[in-house]
Amino acid sequence: MQGRKAIGHLQLVETHEPGEVEIKNMAVREDRQGCGVGGLLVRAAVELVAGGSGSTLVVATAAADIGNLRFYQRQGFRPRSIERDAFTPATGYAPGIRIDGIELRDRVWLDYSLTSAP
Ligand SMILES: CC(C)(COP(=O)(O)OP(=O)(O)OC[C@H]1O[C@@H](n2cnc3c(N)ncnc32)[C@H](O)[C@@H]1OP(=O)(O)O)[C@@H](O)C(=O)NCCC(=O)NCCS
Repeated sequence: MQGRKAIGHLQLVETHEPGEVEIKNMAVREDRQGCGVGGLLVRAAVELVAGGSGSTLVVATAAADIGNLRFYQRQGFRPRSIERDAFTPATGYAPGIRIDGIELRDRVWLDYSLTSAP
């Protein structure tokens, strides 16, 4: 929050795995990106989940989104798996979407262990 205006949000949801919580979505207002707000939100999520006896945080992002992959790995997340063809017309995505010239196609899952050092 800045004054009374939200400048970012992060949503956590429990997964079907015991102790595992997913960052379902997060975003920082465009004019405030790159100033550390996203990092603070992830730190707050780590503390919240660890305080609630969670053991792992997971997050998914597009393999094409190099900025997000860099962001999460800098926060201590490590790649876990790749879901090929997650972003297709069959799953509701228009064909031909590109991010930084990379076709939007595959999803990368990353995780952050709260029980061992990142
Ligand atoms: C990803 C996001 C939440 C990061 O928040 P942030 O406040 O910009 O993050 P921080 O300032 O703590 O860290 C900046 C780092 O985030 C990454 N990043 C990803 N997208 C970025 C963007 N649009 N602008 C700036 N940095 C971005 C970069 O690694 C950057 O490091 P760099 O300065 O060396 O390039 C934010 O950029 C955002 O809201 N993006 C759009 C929504 C989105 O993609 N959400 C994630 C869905 S999985």
